[in-house]
Amino acid sequence: MATSKLLVSTLRKSLTSPSPSSSFRRFSTAAEEAVAPASEPEDSLNIKGVKISARPLYLDMQATSPVDPRVLDAMLPYYLARYGNPHSRTHLYGWESDQAVETARCQVADLIGASPKEIVFTSGATECNNISVKGLKGSIRRDTGLVSVMAVNNEIGVIQPIEEIGKICKELNVSFHTDAAQALGKIPIDVDKWNVSLMSLSGHKIYGPKGSWEWAACELAKKEMEYDDKRIRALQERLLNGVRAKLDGVVVKDVAVSSGSACTSASLEPSYVLRALGVDEDMAHTSIRFGIGRFTTEEEIDRAIELTVQQVEKLREMSPLYEMVEEGIDIKQIQWAQH
Ligand SMILES: Cc1ncc(COP(=O)(O)O)c(C=O)c1O
Repeated sequence: MATSKLLVSTLRKSLTSPSPSSSFRRFSTAAEEAVAPASEPEDSLNIKGVKISARPLYLDMQATSPVDPRVLDAMLPYYLARYGNPHSRTHLYGWESDQAVETARCQVADLIGASPKEIVFTSGATECNNISVKGLKGSIRRDTGLVSVMAVNNEIGVIQPIEEIGKICKELNVSFHTDAAQALGKIPIDVDKWNVSLMSLSGHKIYGPKGSWEWAACELAKKEMEYDDKRIRALQERLLNGVRAKLDGVVVKDVAVSSGSACTSASLEPSYVLRALGVDEDMAHTSIRFGIGRFTTEEEIDRAIELTVQQVEKLREMSPLYEMVEEGIDIKQIQWAQH
């Protein structure tokens, strides 16, 4: 990934070179290290009791994405020089931050066809979902209801007919909330057409920072949506064809196979999304989600194919169940003895 011009030119100079005339302490070089993970000593990755020989490939873009260097460039002045509180009404620092927040509001609104005054910033989609759903519940009367539907599913990529759902809600006069965290910047969104009352979005899924919104990410998402879509689809095809060419018995549904979302990755339970779709427990347990993003390369895809094939072959070699499947035995019909 290209490094941020500003990060390199400004931060490196100002934060890491000792200034003889300066009485300031030298800061840590964390920023410098952050953009150069390749310098990591190979045997240094020892985390949660697991020793990892090298940094693994990252194919979990639905969980979160790296910050686009262009977004970082746009953000840095607001961390280092223009760091006013937008609520400070009495000085330049406050005014310029306020202006930046208002610009951000306009750009988010523009990406989803909303009006800037309809945009409320939260820490992410989880908080937004909670505020929307719980907040609405409080004001709902007996004879009204709330409909909440995820626009694009974060495990299997299913796109819901949000416009039609919105129409039904309008007809029945029911408030409509949609979690569009995985839809933003990937498919066109128009809040008016969709007739949504409340929508949850998340900046860190579209190469913005975690925890807050960044307008530059929205502006870029609008500009790059078509290009990203084509490129990611091509990488997806490459991944699927690569795995299918070397492994039989791989079931692939449209976009991605899934081991569950980031929200449920701590649990050993199979994906509730797949279970709700009627997928058998063994299939749900053995599914993997690949999340490809703007900065994923063909080399990373090829490596992912190689590693996936290697691991699946190794597991199949070790598995007596796989041998039985190969012999044509339906393992679902086996009555297992209790011990
Ligand atoms: C559809 C969807 N909604 C909500 C979330 C949670 O978002 P955040 O991390 O911004 O709270 C995720 C994260 O994976 C998601 O995919």
